[in-house]
Amino acid sequence: MSIAEGDRMNNLERFIRSAYAMFSARTPPAALRQWHQNDPGPTLTYAEQREVAGLLNACTAADVGLHASMSRVRDFNGSSTIYIDIANNKWFSLGIFVLSPGSRIPLHNHPAMCGTIKVIHGEIRITSYTMTEVCGQEVHCIQDPPVLLTKSSPPALLRPDEGNIHELEFVAADVTLPQHNYAAFIDFLTPPYDDTADSNACNYYRVKEGSAEVENQEGKNKVTLIQCPSPDEYSTDVGRYKGPSLKFIAELEAH
Ligand SMILES: [Fe+2]
Repeated sequence: MSIAEGDRMNNLERFIRSAYAMFSARTPPAALRQWHQNDPGPTLTYAEQREVAGLLNACTAADVGLHASMSRVRDFNGSSTIYIDIANNKWFSLGIFVLSPGSRIPLHNHPAMCGTIKVIHGEIRITSYTMTEVCGQEVHCIQDPPVLLTKSSPPALLRPDEGNIHELEFVAADVTLPQHNYAAFIDFLTPPYDDTADSNACNYYRVKEGSAEVENQEGKNKVTLIQCPSPDEYSTDVGRYKGPSLKFIAELEAH
């Protein structure tokens, strides 16, 4: 690729190309699925995930065509959230979650996965929990203090063993863009969900009523969560990506 081509590249393309380069260099494609099933350890070291987060941090609503993709969505089609798929392959999934006013993505996990979350529009509160012990359907956790994220915030990171259970809540849209009354974040997950196995299916949780919450010196609480079905009020519709061209992905897939 020439320097001129690199200059023309938007931040989303730069991010996807970098992610492909990182994963294709380190994991033989044929071995990846077997590797994931046999050793569901972190797919990214902490340092690698920080590198990914640095690239994702540059991505904006314009880079991913957020408002164009939402232009034909009316009242979220009756759902609380919209998911817009950007890229999904054997190494990772990349998409945009759009939250309607007052909505939340309820407590859920991403088993054995690394997640990188970049807010690109509005304001979102993330509350993360680190699992310390599993007792049947109950999960003892340490709750991190909730964090408010905007487009100025660096990405939030979730690790297989740290902050993996999380909840995301709409806090505010962007008051300077009242026509875009929603909040949105880019969600980068690796490895992606495996539709052929139960091993990394997403689970939902609720806070156990009356579970002890003891604040320690770092402002963290001990909380017990209970695994539960997906809450009735949570529903996701699928939106169509209408951002900058993604034709370059086909070239990447061919290599
Ligand atoms: Fe998530």
